[in-house]
Amino acid sequence: MGVKLGILGLGTVGTGTVQLLQDKVGRHPLLQEIEIYRVGVRSLNKPRAVELPTEVLSTDLEAIVNDPAVDIVVEVMGGLEPARSLILKALSNGKHVVTANKAAIARFGAEIFTTANKAGVYVMLEAAVGGGIPVIQPLKQSLSVNRIHTVTGIVNGTTNYILTRMQTEGSNFGDVLADAQRLGYAEADPTADVDGLDAADKIAILASLGFGGRINLQDVYSEGIRQVSKTDIVYAEKLGFVIKLLAIAKRVTLSSPLSVRVHPTLVPKTHPLASINGVYNAILVEGEPIGQVMFFGPGAGAGATASAVSSDILNLVAALKSNTAVPNPLLTCGHQEYCQIAPMTELVTRFYARFLTKDQPGVIGKLGTCFGNHGVSLESIVQTGFQEELAEIVVVTHDVREGEFREALAEIRNLEAIDSIPSLLRVL
Ligand code: NAP
Ligand code: HSE
Repeated sequence: MGVKLGILGLGTVGTGTVQLLQDKVGRHPLLQEIEIYRVGVRSLNKPRAVELPTEVLSTDLEAIVNDPAVDIVVEVMGGLEPARSLILKALSNGKHVVTANKAAIARFGAEIFTTANKAGVYVMLEAAVGGGIPVIQPLKQSLSVNRIHTVTGIVNGTTNYILTRMQTEGSNFGDVLADAQRLGYAEADPTADVDGLDAADKIAILASLGFGGRINLQDVYSEGIRQVSKTDIVYAEKLGFVIKLLAIAKRVTLSSPLSVRVHPTLVPKTHPLASINGVYNAILVEGEPIGQVMFFGPGAGAGATASAVSSDILNLVAALKSNTAVPNPLLTCGHQEYCQIAPMTELVTRFYARFLTKDQPGVIGKLGTCFGNHGVSLESIVQTGFQEELAEIVVVTHDVREGEFREALAEIRNLEAIDSIPSLLRVL
């Protein structure tokens, strides 16, 4: 007997998944066991890129998760509700769930995994982070014996696509965002991409897997790319950096709190993540004894996510076929405790700052004095340009505690010669 799927959603990810599952030649033979039994959508009248028998499409998603014939529910509709309730219902009904919904997992992971564990079923989420890149299973299985130190990722395809085109073509932010939406990379509401919230959801999931604890999403600092200007991209380039939206989870010692954050970052051109361009994502995992491992691939789009969703489905088909009563501990979620997250003031990092100042003698000296008063040591300070009659001064610091750097900035803001501080970015 075939394994029956109830797919919730037939948008970019759902359509890609159905296309892959309908075209089985040359792929894994277990795909033959899968039947697309029901597909839930909002509208039955919308033109679709895939052909499905009329009885398969339905607008009653509740009926799909309650249908005793459905073995696996594939949630690719997105959003928080009704996705959360439908996932919980499916799990309570004893169905395995595959989801691409990082927003729901990052917010409701605790109740979703608790419900799954109680029901003895699995929740699979490979497509939720990194699109087509296998990173969830490797963190859960292949790398699980390592002590993880850092997970650093470019995990949002839309913002990487925008930053790459701003850098290579000098393109305008709004035009490139419209292209990312047309290509199916951006979320329905692109605010989540542009403001770093999508990347925050993803790093919360990766940190949870890497460091073996739950992450409270509210503790994850996130800053998006709206404030990244062409001017900063050009300065970064001159200083030997590219600007990337990085999602970082780091643990300095086994007993220290985690640092989990998303922000635009100056990345040295020689760093492996500096050359990840366009919609591509990459996740660099550092641990002991493995050292560095980097996962790279397409981070969004129909084909990429279909690969990840279908591989999760295949894992579940294999589990259903092997018919073991005991859940595989490498597939379930085994942690219940929350990780402690350090406040941003405790972060130790380098900074890039751009100042607009009056063109007066001694301004650079005054800046240096304020930084020195707070123990901020400067790696470089350059004055290369003017904006109208104001001088533009760019500073890169050595490693400094963020709290101390902010105190120095507060003092600098009070200097009579300072007009404004248009940019403040962290440096990897
Ligand atoms: P999408 O193109 O907007 O498709 C959403 C689908 O779900 C549509 O078919 C829609 O029905 C259906 N749907 C939504 N709300 C519904 C409701 N209340 N009742 C019934 N049907 C509903 O979204 P997507 O880009 O495929 O993304 C789906 C999920 O995958 C999201 O969680 C997203 O974050 C995640 N994801 C996306 C990508 C990507 O590259 N796009 C990559 C990784 C993960 P209609 O077709 O009738 O409107
Ligand atoms: N909107 C997301 C991105 C889709 O641009 O990365 C993949 O999760």
